[in-house]
Amino acid sequence: MNGADDFLRQIPSTRYQGSKRRILPWIYENIKDLPFETVLDGFGGTASASFLFKLMGKKVTFNDVLLSNYQTGIALIENNAVTLNEADVEFLLNENGFEYPSFIQDTFKEIYYTDLENEWLDIASHNIHKLSQTYEGRTLKIKRALAYHILFQACLTKRPFNLFHRKNLYLRLAKVKRSFGNKVTWEREFQKLFMKFNNEISSKIFSNKLRNKATCKDILEVKTKGFDLVYFDPPYARPKDTSPKDYYSLYHFLEGIVDYKNWSKRIDWTMKNRRLIREKTKWEQGELIDNFDSLFRRFQDSIIVVSYGEPGNPSVERIRECLHLYKSDVEISRKRYKYRLNQGNNQNLNEVLLIGK
Ligand SMILES: C[S@@+](CC[C@H](N)C(=O)[O-])C[C@H]1O[C@@H](n2cnc3c(N)ncnc32)[C@H](O)[C@@H]1O
Repeated sequence: MNGADDFLRQIPSTRYQGSKRRILPWIYENIKDLPFETVLDGFGGTASASFLFKLMGKKVTFNDVLLSNYQTGIALIENNAVTLNEADVEFLLNENGFEYPSFIQDTFKEIYYTDLENEWLDIASHNIHKLSQTYEGRTLKIKRALAYHILFQACLTKRPFNLFHRKNLYLRLAKVKRSFGNKVTWEREFQKLFMKFNNEISSKIFSNKLRNKATCKDILEVKTKGFDLVYFDPPYARPKDTSPKDYYSLYHFLEGIVDYKNWSKRIDWTMKNRRLIREKTKWEQGELIDNFDSLFRRFQDSIIVVSYGEPGNPSVERIRECLHLYKSDVEISRKRYKYRLNQGNNQNLNEVLLIGK
């Protein structure tokens, strides 16, 4: 392992909104000399930063409040060696004589995927559940997490904007000229995408010989002890927003797949896009700056690193002042950044890294 760009090549691809994958070399340059062996990635998302820390030989705790991201944390961070073999993939992609449920077909008709795709998603989701016929214990936990993570990458790839925020299958199917997205990719079969992502992920799984783990908690409830460094990449709020981006509403469909048997009870049936009933995390309640304050107070014994977007609410300056209450030395680095998925809205966006020591 030589440097920042070598790290980037090893980190799995993702289409997750807000992923820091592309700027990890810059993050690495800023943190590589800090004295830490244990690290918490508190808003882990698709585990890009956790994966970097794992490659750096640190003992990593990945955390994210979404169940779907928790599966990614198990698959990529906790997991040191397990992959899906040919028999697993064969089992997951095909019908195996079970009595298959039809919840996705019945509930999401014409919303995100075609009828045939919905039918396949019902089958694949059930097959993931049924991996218990072949595996148990820790192996089952990791095989399932891998299968979910890979399925989610396929699901995102086939969605306009890679999200589930609107009922907009028509955008994908309409025979019109469009200035965004890639119809060829959207129309690739789920089975092919699953095999592609499985090949990619299988080549990336590795052990750094430490016990890394994944948790699924509200950040304000994560235990604070035992981390030399904490890294926070919280949902972003633009200057005029009063609350941060709501990841539940962007990725509810993936949450539903992980919690398939409770999905119908959790859906907000008044919404056309059949999203889940809103569950506000602690991070989305109260004043944003107060949440930063609670976070910094709780983790004041660790080096605190925050990824942030500028302009944002609260401003970088207010976050710096808040961090300074608990840390005598606060450094700030900035980098111009264009989010691939959101072009046009962010001409003047800076990626910011605040480091409190
Ligand atoms: C900007 S994204 C993180 C992206 C991540 N660094 C990556 O590279 O993929 C913010 C994440 O915070 C998670 N999140 C939101 N509220 C949270 C909370 N209260 N506790 C923990 N995680 C939360 C969201 O699910 C989302 O994945």
